[in-house]
Order: sequence, then structure tokens, then C-alpha cells
Amino acid sequence: MKRQLVLFLFLCGGLLKLYAVDKGVLRISTDATDLILRVAANGRLYQSYLGPRLLNESDMQHFPASTRSGSGESISKQGWEAYPASGMEDYFEPALGVIHHDGNMTTLLKYISSGTREINENVSETWVQLRDEVYPVEVKLYYRAFHKENVIKTWTEISHKEKKPVTLFRYASAMLYFESPHYYLTEFSGDWAKEVGMSVQELQFGKKIIDTKLGSRAAMHVSPFFQLGFGQPVTETQGTVLLGTLGWTGNFRFTFEVDNAGNLRVISGINPYASHYELKPGELFKTPEFIFTLSEKGCGEASRNLHDWARCYQIKDGMADRLTLLNNWESTGFDFNEEKLLALMQQAKHLGVDLFLLDDGWFGNNYPRNNDKAGLGDWEPMHDKLPDGIGALVNGAEKAGVKFGIWIEPEMVNPKSDLFQKHPDWVIHQPDREAYYFRNQLVLDLSNPKVQDYVYGIVDKLMTEHPEIAFFKWDCNSPITNIYSPYLKEKQSQLYVDHVRGIYRVLERIQVKYPHLPMMLCAGGGGRCDYEALKYFTEFWPSDNTDPVERLFIQWGFSQFFPSKTLCAHVTGWGKQPLKFRTDVAMMGKLGFDINITDLNDAEQAFCRGAVVNFNRLKPVILGGDLFRLVSPYEAEHAALMYVSKEKKKAVLYAYTIHPRFGEKLFPVRLQGLDPGCRYKVEEINLMPGQKSKFSENGKVFSGDYLMKVGLPVFTTQSTTSHIIEITSE
Ligand code: DGJ
Repeated sequence: MKRQLVLFLFLCGGLLKLYAVDKGVLRISTDATDLILRVAANGRLYQSYLGPRLLNESDMQHFPASTRSGSGESISKQGWEAYPASGMEDYFEPALGVIHHDGNMTTLLKYISSGTREINENVSETWVQLRDEVYPVEVKLYYRAFHKENVIKTWTEISHKEKKPVTLFRYASAMLYFESPHYYLTEFSGDWAKEVGMSVQELQFGKKIIDTKLGSRAAMHVSPFFQLGFGQPVTETQGTVLLGTLGWTGNFRFTFEVDNAGNLRVISGINPYASHYELKPGELFKTPEFIFTLSEKGCGEASRNLHDWARCYQIKDGMADRLTLLNNWESTGFDFNEEKLLALMQQAKHLGVDLFLLDDGWFGNNYPRNNDKAGLGDWEPMHDKLPDGIGALVNGAEKAGVKFGIWIEPEMVNPKSDLFQKHPDWVIHQPDREAYYFRNQLVLDLSNPKVQDYVYGIVDKLMTEHPEIAFFKWDCNSPITNIYSPYLKEKQSQLYVDHVRGIYRVLERIQVKYPHLPMMLCAGGGGRCDYEALKYFTEFWPSDNTDPVERLFIQWGFSQFFPSKTLCAHVTGWGKQPLKFRTDVAMMGKLGFDINITDLNDAEQAFCRGAVVNFNRLKPVILGGDLFRLVSPYEAEHAALMYVSKEKKKAVLYAYTIHPRFGEKLFPVRLQGLDPGCRYKVEEINLMPGQKSKFSENGKVFSGDYLMKVGLPVFTTQSTTSHIIEITSE
């Protein structure tokens, strides 16, 4: 009887497995892309396809259950395992690595179940549960598909029921595979004041890793996003491309590995460097989200997809308006007092911007913040500079008729501060070694809940005492140095991960209490810029470098992934180029100013005021329209791009001449995204008072067809000149 029961159960198991294999096709679709996973006869899960969406459901049957076996036995026999673990038959970089409670380092995941739910008519979510048959380790893969925007975000949950904790040494968010004769990677790297330099390389056999180990100002040298071109380098308008980015405000790692058969695997996630993670039984390790979009029409379309998705689903108040502002950092640095600030508020009003933003240097008494050597951590207004406190500034702004915003750097501390004297145990540093400082400061230990409370309290106190504060600039100037958490004690290898989770806990609390408070993310310029942080920030500061020529490149780079309403662009004195050129570059992002207006003559002041009026009028197109990058500064001595409203009734064209060559032939710029059948009037805006437009087609009417096929002569033979053309359908 017992034997019969065993046989019965075995047969049932077999049938269930067969069922899983037979029906085991998981199709994750957007309107334009299919990601197809299959459960093979061995019970494991494989990626069968990632590419343009297939028309016929019946074609699913053609995908073999285990695919891409490569050349004979030389690569993994089973092909593209969706989330391969380490130690068994896969010869390349794994997604998951576990040291089990008994020290065993092998894991092999098999399919258990899966499901799909419709979140709304545009968003669906598929999950797949996998489990090791020998060790009770479980992995759940999530894929959320945004149909119209053609974006998929994917993340992983890892848990187990072993007797004792296990150690995770790999914990990728996602693993994706590709097959193409050539792979071209575009990376975005640089340094302070030269962020997101775009460079392209062909991937060959072996691994290319893009990663950071900087901890807090994590993206100082390289950003958490990349582009892949298949068969050819990425272009704007044609070719198959993937744009991928990780939502993680800390150490990240992308591994691109071409195997012996020429397949490419892309592994995205937290950088496991110095970050073995101890997972207790029943505890859940949730990875950050990897977000990607595929396009058959180049990166222009892919960027627009990401922009639409980000505004609609990801960014704090992504569909809402943005505030123009006057900041004081470039004009005063630390050298200001109440009187100076009140005068700047009047200037802000005169300019017509919405807000005055007070930057660094307003706090610290025992250790006054008169330079970057002291005071960080002591968030009390400095009596010497601001005898009447923040209240006087808030009132001053109200009287001037502008809103008031304030700078903080709440995750950091100068050793010369009351905070450090009182709570050295709240600071990431090595008690027994000489400290290494970056900008004279150290990073607070956000893995410690008490520190989280303290950081949350900085914002909460300011907001409670001055509910009129309408904006925060949240800076983060130092990477983590001297890595040691007094709080985590013997679990030091969890600091990089738990620190970032601690930041999110703080930001989440702020978001709950102040859901629509606009906040700018900044890290000594663009050292932090990812889609998880942007859930809590309305915008970010791409770079301290506001030289407009440099900004053309920096904003070009960030625009690949982020919509213009997140890119703060200020008119400053950097570069000393003509004011019009500086302003025209800033106007392609979220416009702001950081200059002393009294340094400008009357005509220049009038020009700036006019620019603000134009920007406000065109904001829906500039910040909410579709971006078409037309001429890349990387390829010419010129640059051009345009925004087109969703209904194609209005567009704004920006054309910049950087440094033309002698006798250079100038080509017209062909526009994109217009309605070919529509007629459009083209008018130059943002002219200096009294300046006559040199744009030869000014005021004329053209069909969209003509503008897109023939184009407009908008480049000049003069260095650092620019045109902004407003395009209006008749
Ligand atoms: C770095 C930022 O990028 C600047 O804009 C400014 O806020 C300084 N920090 C202030 O210290």
C-alpha cells in the first residue's frame, strides 16, 4: 500500500512537472517587446527570447525549452538560465551566490510556480518562484511591464528556510542575454565637473565591468546606466538598442560578459564588493530594480520611452510643474549675511523666478560654517550671519514675493562640529586608524536607526518651524571613506547595503509627511542620479560645471535616461560665454539662475526676464514634451535638439554653434517628431533687447514634411552662438 502511494505521488509529481514544462512559457510583454522565459524538462528556467514583440501566440511553441547551447559542450549545456546560481554547471558569471549554513557554496534553482497580475490597463507584473531542491533557498523574480512606454523593470527577492543564516555573495537584480554578431557598449563616465562623458567600445570575449565602490557619492566616476547597440554602435534613429539603469543610490555593478560562443550576458545589481550579506532564515533580501527598454529605432525612441515612463510612474511628482529659481552659491559662496540674502530675494522677484534657494553656509555656531572645514552636522542658523534665523529669511522671501528653499547635506558631518563631538559613534570611520577625509568630512552611519531618526529630524524640524519652506536641495559631497560602522559591529560587510537602505527609510518618512515637497538631489554635482532616488526627488543637479559648452555634453548625456524636468540647469558665470548662449543652454533643462543680477546691465537683465517668461510659457513642451536629439555635440562643432508637444502642435528647437571650423559648410538641421501634414510657423525667441533675428527663416510658415526633410539653417559661423526657435502649428 505504502509503495503504491509512493508510486502514485511520483506519477502525480511527474504529471505536475510535465504540465509545468508544457505550459511553462512565461511571456512578459510590452506593446513593443517580448521577454520569453521557458521552463525546461529539467525543471529549470531559461530565457528563450528578448526582442521585438511577436505577433502570434502560436509561435511561442517554436522556442526550445532550453536554448542557445552554443558550441557543443563548451558553454553551459543548458543555455541561458534566467537566474543562474553559482557552483554547478554554469561556467560564467552567476546571478546568485550563496554560502549555505553548512559552508556548501552550490545552489541550483528549479521552477516552482509563477503568476501574473494586471496592476492597471497599462501595467502588468509577472513573478516566478524558484527553489533549490537540496537547500531550502528560494528566489522570486519579478518583471513589471509598462506596455505603452515599452519599459520593463525587474527585481529579485531572495529568502531561505535553512537552520542558520546563509551568506549571499552574489545577488543580482537581473540577468539578461543577447545574441548578436557585435555588441557595442556606451558607458557614461567622468569625474567632478565632467560627469557622464559618453564613450563607446565593442565588447569582446570576457568581462567588462562598470561599477562603483564609493558608497554614498556613488556615481562620481561612472553613472548607473548604460546603452547597448546590437550589430552596430548606438545611433539616435536606427538600430536595435537597449537602455538599462539600476535604481540604487549606492555601489552598483553592471557586468557584460561575452562567452566562448559569442553570447552576451548582462548582470545588473548592487556591487557585491566587500558586501557579503548575512541572511537570516525567513528574512527577505530584495534587490534594487533594474529598468530597461529596447528599441528597434535607436536611442532617441528609447530615451523618449524612459522619459514618458519616468514622468508617469517613477519620479516624485513626475507630472507636476517645476519651480524656476535663483540660487546664491555661485555668487556668494559662504560669504553672505541676512542683508545680502534679502537683496538676492528682491533680485529673484525682479527676474521673475518662483523661488530663492539658499545654499551652503547658513548654519553652525560653535563651529561656524564659513568654509567647508567645519559645521556640517550642526543645523542651527549661524547667529553671526543670520541673527534673526531662518524665520527672517522666510518672511523676507514672502515680502519679496518669491518662495524660499534651503540647502542641507544631512548625511554628512565635519569632525569640527558639535555633532561629531557628541556622537562619534554615529559616524562611519575607523576609530584606531588615521582618518581619510574627502572635502574635510565624514559620512553618517545610516545603517543605525538612531542616525536615521536624526537625519529625518533635520528636515522635519525645519519644516515644522518654517512650514513655508518650499524646496530642499539635498547635497552629498563625500564618498564613504574609512569604512567601519560602529553600529553594525561584526557585520561590517553589510554596511554598504544597509547604509543605502537607511537612506531610503529616511526619504520614505519625509515623503509620507511631505508628499509634494520639491527636492533637488545633488552630490557635489551629478554624483548621484538614479531612479530609486528620484522616487523621492523632483529633480537633480547634473554637475557643478555650468560652463554652457560643457553643459551641452553633460545634459546630452543625462538626457539619454532622464527627462528634462529632472535636469536642473542654471545660468552662472562659468565659462564667461555670452549671456544668451549660457541662458539658451540652461533653457533646455529646468531653468534656474545662480548669478548676481546686479552684475548684469539693464539690457541683460531684461533679456533674462524675457527668458523666464518664454520658459514659463513653453514649460509644458520643454519639460513635458518628446525630446528629439538632432545633432550631437560629440559629432560636430554644433548641437541641436528639440521638444515636441504630445499633440504635435508646438515645438521648441535649440541650436548651438560651439566652435565652427574656418570656412565650414553649414548644413540645415532636419527636424523630427512633427506632423508632416501640418503647417508650422517658425519664430526665433530669446533675443537680446533690440537684437534683430539673424535666423533667415524667421516668421515663415513651413509644412512639417518640409521641416523634417529639408530642415532649417540654424547654425552659424560664430563661436558660442545659439538660436531658440518656437514652432507653432497654424
Ligand atoms: C556641491 C554642490 O554641487 C554645489 O552646488 C553647492 O551646493 C556646494 N556643494 C555647497 O557646498
